[in-house]
Amino acid sequence: MHISIISCVPKLLESPFSDSILKRAIKKGLVNVEVIDLRDYSTDRHKSVDDYAYGGGAGMVMMIEPIDRCITDLKSKRTYDEIIYMSPDGEQFSQSIANQLSLKQNLILLCGHYKGVDERVREHLITREMSIGDYVLSGGELAAAVIADSVIRLLPGVLNDETSALTDSFQNGLVAPPVYTRPAEYKGWEVPPVLISGHEAKIEEWRHEQALERTQKRRPQLFKKG
Ligand code: ADE
Repeated sequence: MHISIISCVPKLLESPFSDSILKRAIKKGLVNVEVIDLRDYSTDRHKSVDDYAYGGGAGMVMMIEPIDRCITDLKSKRTYDEIIYMSPDGEQFSQSIANQLSLKQNLILLCGHYKGVDERVREHLITREMSIGDYVLSGGELAAAVIADSVIRLLPGVLNDETSALTDSFQNGLVAPPVYTRPAEYKGWEVPPVLISGHEAKIEEWRHEQALERTQKRRPQLFKKG
């Protein structure tokens, strides 16, 4: 998989990909993450990528021209399955969208800043718009990192234990059951005995029951979704 992230503050995207699971996935060649500085596609000598809003009002708007030049350049190198604009009013990102995106070959994530992008970018240059939640971030970079992370960890070979992503919360429409590690007793607080019993079927049954109970208590709407 190849993920191209377009940003006018590319530094914001350095650390999420330079540690832990994502770093290892990149090193293993399971995914290629390319962060593109939108300013490289600006034609003016100040490398500006934004301008005042037509009609007035506070806040700058990202211009269509550098974005179009950048996307055109990227598309000349590979065929993209989706060109996704990060926006608080986009489609609500979810585990099921992460699953869908993990099956794609090439993705562009376009990060907005300031007041967002010129509306013509949204009308003509992208294929999808994604929000990571009903709150406003300073820019799309953190949202892009969230989406890239949740997609990359699903790629075969990224997690050491192949089944690990399958037992994540939401993968089966349920939140994950509780987990414990050593010691078996701490300050009198004990690990549920079934987990130390060595009885695999009973452990599975217990985990399933816990997942059901937790989902009912914490995310009852997951049951209603079907
Ligand atoms: N950009 C600003 N806020 C955002 C959000 N909540 N989701 C995606 N992109 C954003």
